[in-house]
Amino acid sequence: MPRFGAVLSGTGSFLPERRLTNGDLEKLVDTNNEWIIQRTGIHERRLAGPSESTATLALEAARRALDAARLPAEQIDLIIVATLTPEMPTPSTACMLHHLLGIQRPIGAFDMGAACSGFLYALATATQFIGSGSYRHVLVVGAETLSRVVDYTDRGTCILFGDGAGAAVVSACDNPQRGVRAFELGAKGDGGTLLSIPAGGSRVPASAVSVENRLHYLKMNGREVYKFAVHQMTMSLQRAMEACSLTSQSVRLVVPHQVNLRIINSATEKMGFPRDKVFINIDRYGNTSAASVPIALDEAIRQGRCGPGDWIIMVAFGAGLTWASATLHL
Ligand code: UT7
Repeated sequence: MPRFGAVLSGTGSFLPERRLTNGDLEKLVDTNNEWIIQRTGIHERRLAGPSESTATLALEAARRALDAARLPAEQIDLIIVATLTPEMPTPSTACMLHHLLGIQRPIGAFDMGAACSGFLYALATATQFIGSGSYRHVLVVGAETLSRVVDYTDRGTCILFGDGAGAAVVSACDNPQRGVRAFELGAKGDGGTLLSIPAGGSRVPASAVSVENRLHYLKMNGREVYKFAVHQMTMSLQRAMEACSLTSQSVRLVVPHQVNLRIINSATEKMGFPRDKVFINIDRYGNTSAASVPIALDEAIRQGRCGPGDWIIMVAFGAGLTWASATLHL
């Protein structure tokens, strides 16, 4: 039994200004607005500008979360940044964020690599440090500039992804019955090739050949990933409900990874959730991987779709293959 509850004391999000509409994509690849809306629910996405990168998006989201928590950055005890598009292989984006926030204390900072499930993996990690009494405030961020790894000649992937960042300050609460009450982390490593960036790591280092073969871009077997995503998101949602003996009536809101509107609708309908209990913003931002859940969470809280005393479930699925859920009593 944890000694402390891990509660959300503030959330924030940041989306770059530049918009990429379905109409813009029609000029780049053989696709059309109707197909994209019908198959994914996406109308437009945001793209980072030339002076923006994962750390700068993370910084804005983190500042907004700290403001909402009314907490000076200096009081943060640990920083975790979930991302699959870090600033560079090393140092970590979390260390850069430590610097950009101007934090003087030598607190821990590290990146979390679990693709679209990354924010929930990071939240579960923060919950351990807080529940044990090790730390009082952990800054958990999900931030991506997927536009830097998306191949805008591949219509199977470029229609889906966008850039953005979301953050949460997770704080200790004397009542262990509040905050994160259950989580699930999962992985199926043999599905790794279904969704990957093949080059740029130790297996296929950058070379003229890797660039020529476009191996630094995101590759996806959409159809296979889709099937697995529907199954796994349904099962994760079911287990998240069972973990706290919840029903679709007692849960106020499901905040899913904005993976594809059809996947979200299919999984939540199977578990008996009406549409108004499922938070959706994929139409405006597309799939922002690790940033997707914290952006949706922040918007849901700011729009009053959930608040103190409510049960919410966050659920995600992504490359790895990975999945994760978190059940919270706000
Ligand atoms: O967050 C990370 C996890 N990622 C995911 O979960 C992604 C999961 N997968 C998906 O969301 C979907 O598979 C996609 C949206 C990527 C594709 O939708 P789909 O309904 O699975 O399409 P499909 O790949 O089965 O293709 C259906 C048809 C094909 O034409 P034919 O062979 O039936 O003639 C494709 O060539 O649609 C065609 N198609 C397109 N047409 C217009 C594929 N992409 C496009 C496109 N525009 N962008």
